[in-house]
Amino acid sequence: MPEEKEKERQKGIGISRRNFLKGMGTGAVAATVAPTVLVGAPKSAEAQTSEEISRAKIKLDINNKMYEVEVEPRTTLLSVLRDGFDTSGNRVDLTGSKLICDRGECGGCTILIDGKSVYSCMTLAIDAQETKITTVEGIADGDQLHPVQEAFVQHDALMCGFCTPGFIVSAKSLLDENSSPSLEEIKEGLSGNICRCGTYPFIFEAVKTASIKMGG
Ligand code: FES
Ligand code: FES
Repeated sequence: MPEEKEKERQKGIGISRRNFLKGMGTGAVAATVAPTVLVGAPKSAEAQTSEEISRAKIKLDINNKMYEVEVEPRTTLLSVLRDGFDTSGNRVDLTGSKLICDRGECGGCTILIDGKSVYSCMTLAIDAQETKITTVEGIADGDQLHPVQEAFVQHDALMCGFCTPGFIVSAKSLLDENSSPSLEEIKEGLSGNICRCGTYPFIFEAVKTASIKMGG
């Protein structure tokens, strides 16, 4: 029978899918977070079900503010930013990063982790512990817009604006690494972001203007 054959096959490789998932969940979580269910838990790791290890409290440094949130190991950072609550029940409410493709193709969810641009839809929240996370909300200095933001306004570099936060974060990251990029370098630096409205020429001009403002 196919079922028996599958059991034999699993015996052969010494681990069942169920145990693999259990082991992976336990190991990954134990290595990266301090799950509340593990603290003082009398059961052995073997005895824990996937439900028991499915949520953990973690701390995230977002825009220089610490947030304690409870997440599942699979929870993305984008999900925490947009839809998460801290452990006091307050919404994180950082909705500047956009959920568009949810698969690392459009750049609408771009944020900075330790200064490097990443797709927050492709980043697990637990992997962002002990890093400095910067979202588009954290780029301005109080009421003073970042030069990239000012240049986007100056060049009218948006139509619907849905892609704009991701472009601004990517542009900041680019200019932090290369203060005087050529047009080709700007295009390459922003190649992970897509604008469906086709405002690319204005965006590229804005980044050039920002680079000059920033002394590049
Ligand atoms: S929503 Fe993350 S890359 Fe598109
Ligand atoms: S301005 Fe609409 S998607 Fe870029």
